[in-house]
Amino acid sequence: MHNHDTYDATLAAFRRCYGRAPEVVAYAPGRVEVLGNHTDYNEGYVLSAAIDSGTFFAVARTDAPDCRLTAGDLMREVRFPVDRPEPRRDDGWANYCLGVLAGLRRHDAVRSGFDALFLGNIPLGSGLSSSAALEVSTGLALARLYEIEIDALSLARIGQRAEHLYAGVKCGLLDQISVLFGRQDMLVHTDFRTLDVRTVPLGREIALLICNTHVKHALVDGEYNRRRADCELAAAHFSRVLPHPVTALRDVTWTEWEQQRQGLDERAARRAAHIIGENERVLEGVHCLAARDLAGFGQLMFASHDSSRNYFENSTPELDHLVDAARGIPGVLGARLTGGGFGGSVAALTRLDAAAAAGQALAAAYAARFGDPCEVRTICPSDGARIVMPARQ
Ligand code: GLA
Repeated sequence: MHNHDTYDATLAAFRRCYGRAPEVVAYAPGRVEVLGNHTDYNEGYVLSAAIDSGTFFAVARTDAPDCRLTAGDLMREVRFPVDRPEPRRDDGWANYCLGVLAGLRRHDAVRSGFDALFLGNIPLGSGLSSSAALEVSTGLALARLYEIEIDALSLARIGQRAEHLYAGVKCGLLDQISVLFGRQDMLVHTDFRTLDVRTVPLGREIALLICNTHVKHALVDGEYNRRRADCELAAAHFSRVLPHPVTALRDVTWTEWEQQRQGLDERAARRAAHIIGENERVLEGVHCLAARDLAGFGQLMFASHDSSRNYFENSTPELDHLVDAARGIPGVLGARLTGGGFGGSVAALTRLDAAAAAGQALAAAYAARFGDPCEVRTICPSDGARIVMPARQ
């Protein structure tokens, strides 16, 4: 479904559920991570983009202290008191909204209850961060409804806290920042130490293909959190052995890794190698983009995938197969897994004139090995989250 159809469907479903129109509707897109994998919680660098599909969150106040929240795709409703948004074991989808409500409740303004419904068009488990789209659209809509002044970074942090406390994933801020700061035709370049966010033009002659393997990633199953713990272990080691301060793997260079990794657990050393390499690749990638060296940029994407596969072990045979196939397809400049890993999608960078044929070739290569073709679509870096109703004056 396209965004305008999803918006219309959101309004219609809201009316069907609650018998009236919403007062506020917010939209937040998904995101694609283009370079810099698992670097965000290591205070490193990422290049990412907001994508052209996302989630609409529609809401209206009630006079009661209770809230009703409906998942528009499942047409399932949960109810909870506005002053006790507690995490749920059943209906886990509601936790993203409940966690954001809990974050906003520190503002006194949140008193009366609300009726809300959300609907999106990002495939779940695709690695395109449907969860951040839900958190951010919830946060924007509720902040507007309760007239809470909140800046984008604080909203991003509320979304991240919802993931930590309500979904059990100790994620960084990449997803929420990409979703909030995305711009049309631009990549978002974030420094996760300073939280300096810039945009870098990708160029209109370039397309991004997303190849969804439909193998669901297992972030919530603890692999993600284990990777994070390994990185923290490695950072603690380097802070002991290096003469300069190390508060995160961001502070360690490749040469230091080579010279000082003795004594570090072998697995943690490999995890660190991935992060250190990724940080260097992002900075190099920014230079490639500035110099319009897109072939060079694509090679960094391939190298990033190899590093995921060998050092971070967050790839899958399906993702590896697609990236291997991409190397031989004309017009494909680079390809890598995107997001947390353990399934989800491959992002491939292609020349625009070659995108359609490259997409078909990737789907065919996937079918040749796994039976069914993977789903391939072209995405355009797009504007970030916003209020869509009431319309801006
Ligand atoms: C997930 C997390 C992000 C980030 C990526 C990997 O999307 O939510 O914070 O760590 O994985 O780069």
